[in-house]
Amino acid sequence: MSKTYRIGVIPGDGTGPEVVAEGIKVMNAVSQRFGFKTDLTYFDFGGDRYLKTGEVLPADAVEQLQKFDALYLGAIGHPDVKPGILEKGILLKLRFDLDQYINLRPVKLYPGVECPLKDKRPEDIDFVVVRENTEGLYAGAGGTLKKGTADEVAIQESINTRKGVERCIRYAFEYCRKRNKMKKLTLCGKTNVLTFAFDLWERTFYEVAKEYPDIKADYAHVDAITMWFVKNPEWFDVIVTDNMFGDIITDLGAMIQGGMGIAAGGNINPQGVSMFEPIGGSAPKYKGKNVINPLAAICAGGMMLEYLGEDEAGKAVEKAVMEVTGKHIRSLAAGQMGLSTAEAGDLVAKIAATI
Ligand code: IPM
Ligand code: MN
Repeated sequence: MSKTYRIGVIPGDGTGPEVVAEGIKVMNAVSQRFGFKTDLTYFDFGGDRYLKTGEVLPADAVEQLQKFDALYLGAIGHPDVKPGILEKGILLKLRFDLDQYINLRPVKLYPGVECPLKDKRPEDIDFVVVRENTEGLYAGAGGTLKKGTADEVAIQESINTRKGVERCIRYAFEYCRKRNKMKKLTLCGKTNVLTFAFDLWERTFYEVAKEYPDIKADYAHVDAITMWFVKNPEWFDVIVTDNMFGDIITDLGAMIQGGMGIAAGGNINPQGVSMFEPIGGSAPKYKGKNVINPLAAICAGGMMLEYLGEDEAGKAVEKAVMEVTGKHIRSLAAGQMGLSTAEAGDLVAKIAATI
């Protein structure tokens, strides 16, 4: 009997629904080929729902989402909603409440994709960032005093727990071993200045490293990492870091792999429900125009299949995307692909079904 995966789909705002539709098209193509089924349940969470109902998420949203094997998210962000409300109320809330403590972001330059770095080729840019996803500056600890006065005080604290740091570092070591590439894990921190938070990270990192003698444990300051992403991206295999640094360096990572049109990520709870998403925004100005590039969402779908244990299917999706970037599209930019959103999805689906 073939396996059926229950997937909660949150298309979200802007171009989210369009790119998610293409991701699902590709999933359907590979599911037939590799002999599994998907059972999709759609949720209307996002800006439109919020504007209509005044509610960001229904009270039982997390409880409902907990029942799925995985979640597939398009994009959150609406031009008529004040920045922060939907991001915090939906995306961050789900990451936190579902305890998706890993944000996994592969940075890989696919063939044919234009790279802004001089002389760098696909073999030079292929690493993965493991970002802690539930703590740090994102925990929301702090507050303000005397707001709006000349004496205003704003405090935003970074929360780092031994448990949170250790589980993230362990995940990164395991991931690096399984990936089996350079077998090098780099801790990205700031031990020379953030001497409380990154002291905990550094000690935990080298303690856990003892259990992984096959992995080279490496360290770099976050500022230096941004330099090396540009100068020597080939040095990196897997990088582990805290929430804020991970947020920042993965946008840089997305740019060196060709931009937001191709960057995908997974919010992972290895013991619970994980959520996969293209990491670009909702691009509202392209909404409904059938011009947005769906490859990032398709890649996120591929990551989801791999996470569900459909390795072959996930790899077929990635290979098909590489075939398309290498041979069939002019640019990753919206409106400049030489294909519409739906045509790009059709092509990946067709190739993934046979490659
Ligand atoms: C990301 C995004 C989010 C983050 C925003 C939208 C809250 O930038 O997924 O990287 O900061 O984590
Ligand atoms: Mn970000």
